[in-house]
Amino acid sequence: MVKVGIVGVGTVGVSVVKNLEKNREIIKSRAGKEIKVIKGVVRDPSKKRDVNIELVTDYKEVTRDPQIDIVVELMGGVDKAYEVVKDALNHGKAVVTANKALLAYHRFELQKIANTPFEYEASVAGGIPVIKALRDGLSANHIEEIKGIINGTCNYILTEMKKGRDYEEVLKEAQEKGYAEADPTFDVGGFDAAHKLLILASIAYNIDAKPEEILIEGIENINLTDIEFAKEFGYEIKLLGIAKKIGNEIELRVHPTLIKKEEMIAKVDGVMNAVSVIGDVVGETMYYGPGAGGDATASAVISDIIEIARGCIKPMLGFKIPLELDNVTLKPIDE
Ligand code: NAP
Ligand code: HSE
Repeated sequence: MVKVGIVGVGTVGVSVVKNLEKNREIIKSRAGKEIKVIKGVVRDPSKKRDVNIELVTDYKEVTRDPQIDIVVELMGGVDKAYEVVKDALNHGKAVVTANKALLAYHRFELQKIANTPFEYEASVAGGIPVIKALRDGLSANHIEEIKGIINGTCNYILTEMKKGRDYEEVLKEAQEKGYAEADPTFDVGGFDAAHKLLILASIAYNIDAKPEEILIEGIENINLTDIEFAKEFGYEIKLLGIAKKIGNEIELRVHPTLIKKEEMIAKVDGVMNAVSVIGDVVGETMYYGPGAGGDATASAVISDIIEIARGCIKPMLGFKIPLELDNVTLKPIDE
């Protein structure tokens, strides 16, 4: 049996526990062994959360529990999550995380100290297996461009605003549905999309850029008139994350973009995400699916747990074998 400890039993954590239980038989057959969550870390154990696992408040009771094989970090934030993941890796645990903010700042560093598997499929585009596609499925390619809708909350807001609905009201709804970050400024300010773009760029180009080094503009200033005007001229407004290789430089940016309504990406509505990746061998590929929400994200988290349980993942794979050997550098913002 593979024993799992979850640090953070909120929207995603609860869905991970429930879906591991719901699909126990098929997961066991795919992993080759039973997977069981034995402990979870929360701030407030008295909160009602409808899962039957032992709850503790000190993360070390999970990261240092000799019984636990895999630590799943689902608490969010950067500093504390960094402490938790580092402690888990230093105590020989395999780690799975959905925390894009943590990865945008510390992925390379954490991957360097990991002598155990360290996986993060759920950190970009929720339930879409875009990291495995980029890292494994497209490993024969130089990546020329990555372009995508990678924040479900913003896409949900922009979609509902097309119906004339109020920005604040829709944001509140996105929070209630479990799509938004604990601090939704990360969503609407474009920072969450930037974190995800940096993770994709780090895989495609082995580049260790930080959010402060790239252009980030969110959707806070988009109003109903902008959306109406765009529609009148045959365009949709979408928040895009874009990584483009220009010579030996990589341009990384996040901003609202006018897209012709006939384009595939313009038709991606609601909480759905879509990522287009252009490789020099394959051409353009596109990945589509739910980009946020407990169950969609749990699907990706559990896929990492299953792969680790199967023994398919070797530690530091992504770090030791850069896919891009062109010696690329980040294009500065002001050029
Ligand atoms: P959430 O609902 O806010 O849950 C966070 C959980 O972490 C809660 O159980 C909370 O405990 C616990 N926690 C937070 N700080 C803690 C601390 N200092 N010590 C102990 N426990 C702590 O968040 P979520 O939506 O599940 O997201 C979790 C992670 O997944 C984040 O990194 C997020 O960016 C990422 N993610 C979320 C989604 C999504 O759609 N929601 C999708 C992809 C990735 P209490 O319950 O006691 O407060
Ligand atoms: N808040 C994020 C979003 C969650 O809305 O896309 C998924 O990463």
